[in-house]
Amino acid sequence: MVNKKRMLGLVGFVGAGALALGLAGCAGGGDNGGSGSGSEGNGDGELTTVGFVAVGPEGGWRNANEQAIKDAFSQEAGFDLKYAPAASPTDQKSQIDAFATFVNDEVDVILLTATEASGWEDSLELAQEAEIPVILLDRGVDASEDLYVTRIAPDNVNVAGTVGEWAVETFPEGASYFTLEGVPGLSVVNERNEGFEAAIEGAEGWTKIGAQTANWTADEGKSVIETVLKENPDLQFIFAQNDEMGIGAAAAVAAAGLTPGTDVKIATIDGTTPALEALAAGELSFVAQYNPFFGDLAVEAVNSALAGDSVEKNIIVPGETFDSPEAAQAAIDEGKGF
Ligand code: AHR
Repeated sequence: MVNKKRMLGLVGFVGAGALALGLAGCAGGGDNGGSGSGSEGNGDGELTTVGFVAVGPEGGWRNANEQAIKDAFSQEAGFDLKYAPAASPTDQKSQIDAFATFVNDEVDVILLTATEASGWEDSLELAQEAEIPVILLDRGVDASEDLYVTRIAPDNVNVAGTVGEWAVETFPEGASYFTLEGVPGLSVVNERNEGFEAAIEGAEGWTKIGAQTANWTADEGKSVIETVLKENPDLQFIFAQNDEMGIGAAAAVAAAGLTPGTDVKIATIDGTTPALEALAAGELSFVAQYNPFFGDLAVEAVNSALAGDSVEKNIIVPGETFDSPEAAQAAIDEGKGF
């Protein structure tokens, strides 16, 4: 296959523009870019090869997000997506190995959802030397912005800020609270802490009992909160950085003979259907959507990058919040869950 990146270098701007039209023509329409125009990737009958260094099975949000990417980068839309899930959601080495393989195979572009924020400089430099553009999905990395085209994700600081703003309104006198964090070392964990803490900063009466990772899972969310409640039976509020941990926390609250949503309020981030159902049932009190459906934005960014066009360094995916059983039920009825 003619290497498109090198071809771009030869044909100059006008040719690249023509190529962009070819690529753009294959970008899908619809909610998620999943329904392509049917033309091949680069107009000469060849597919655009995309190496997706992914997290793999992790939870409801991840499943929805990775399926959305697979749907958008379909063959009908002109892509040959090579999916490389990590050996486990915390196994960065398997991701680094997959990344290197994609560079060696000279894919046209690499999509990366990192299992760890640090440790990516060498891989990104390898891709840059090979003139393979890299696009970050969801998670950021601790590396120079010059080493990747863009990061596509909802604004974690802002999403977590909506949780803090709701909490301050809900507890005008302040509250004792505990934070359940995602996997340590992730950009989104730090960004969510930053957004939530900034929103409650300056509000009177807020007491942080503590914070601990529950590794995005319901089981660990339950076991952590069981321990916390033994030592802090008057805990008022739990900020769970994702739905699964929040649902686990609600189970721990109930197991302690307390009523989740009344004795202890729990707010989560993601917006999966189980969380909306728990909010509709009153077990959760607030859910901030972390919108996983950005396959079309990723297709646009890939097409622009391969056409040599400039791309925003951060592409923000919009979302919404749900703050009552009625709002949750309406969201379920409108198919907003996933
Ligand atoms: O990086 C996004 C986070 O990863 C989601 O909020 C969480 O559910 C997933 O595990």
